[in-house]
Amino acid sequence: MATAIVTGGAVRLGRAMACRLAERGYNIALHHGGSSPLDTLEQIIKHGAECRAYSRDFRDLPSAEGLIDEVLKDFGDVELLVNSAANFILENLEETKTESLLDTMNVNLLAPFLLMREYKRKVNRGMIVNILDQRVLKNISTFGAYSVAKKGLEHLTHLGAVEWGAEVRVNGIAPGLILPPPGGPEDYPERQARNIPTQTHGTEADVLRGLDYLIDSPFVNGEVLFIDGGESKASKNSKF
Ligand SMILES: NC(=O)c1ccc[n+]([C@@H]2O[C@H](COP(=O)([O-])OP(=O)(O)OC[C@H]3O[C@@H](n4cnc5c(N)ncnc54)[C@H](OP(=O)(O)O)[C@@H]3O)[C@@H](O)[C@H]2O)c1
Repeated sequence: MATAIVTGGAVRLGRAMACRLAERGYNIALHHGGSSPLDTLEQIIKHGAECRAYSRDFRDLPSAEGLIDEVLKDFGDVELLVNSAANFILENLEETKTESLLDTMNVNLLAPFLLMREYKRKVNRGMIVNILDQRVLKNISTFGAYSVAKKGLEHLTHLGAVEWGAEVRVNGIAPGLILPPPGGPEDYPERQARNIPTQTHGTEADVLRGLDYLIDSPFVNGEVLFIDGGESKASKNSKF
């Protein structure tokens, strides 16, 4: 069995992707920050996969950088890296605190950059999937540092695909309205669906279908799948 690394894999979308990959037959190296990974580990093991949890705060870049080495020591047969960990701080550009700017760049852009680089240097096969956001096509400044970091990660996805495509494919998934914001009301997606061209919101299953497609499509490289009901293409800049 090959091994997949999923960052931010203990909760929500990261957890759904880790469980899906286990279902597909991958062993899982499950990165998490402050959340307990126990429930997710239990789910993954039910699929017969081997799973280990790796706690790392990505605000600390040297700690992020060492993750690939540690996983390789434990598993040795890595074939996929999913960069899903992200923070999401509600500050527009003017409100942005220096500390949240640094944290956001570290967690959402610089840690994925270092993980990608280490993956290329030491694994050098398979695929990297960066989880972006439909906002990368829009100009919404409400989560200013987050948007800048995700835009950078989109560019990095394209650069990696071009520089590394012969050995490592690099693709992205840009979700739209899927889950409520962390800690937000459960009915948030239903309430906001009116702002989406499809008049619906997506679910984890939509993102998992995108992930399956990227894994199963060896000629797809440098692609970003927008799984957003067309939100990113709407001419009017919705606030959501
Ligand atoms: N949910 C959506 O509808 C949606 C829409 C657009 C884009 N996205 C993107 O999809 C991905 C997953 O979204 P989500 O809503 O499931 O995210 P989430 O609930 O906010 O989870 C993000 C993960 O990032 C980890 N993380 C945050 N700060 C960290 C730090 N300092 N060090 C290490 N890990 C850290 C968290 O780990 P711990 O919990 O273990 O601390 C958490 O597991 C993200 O990249 C997000 O930007 C999601």
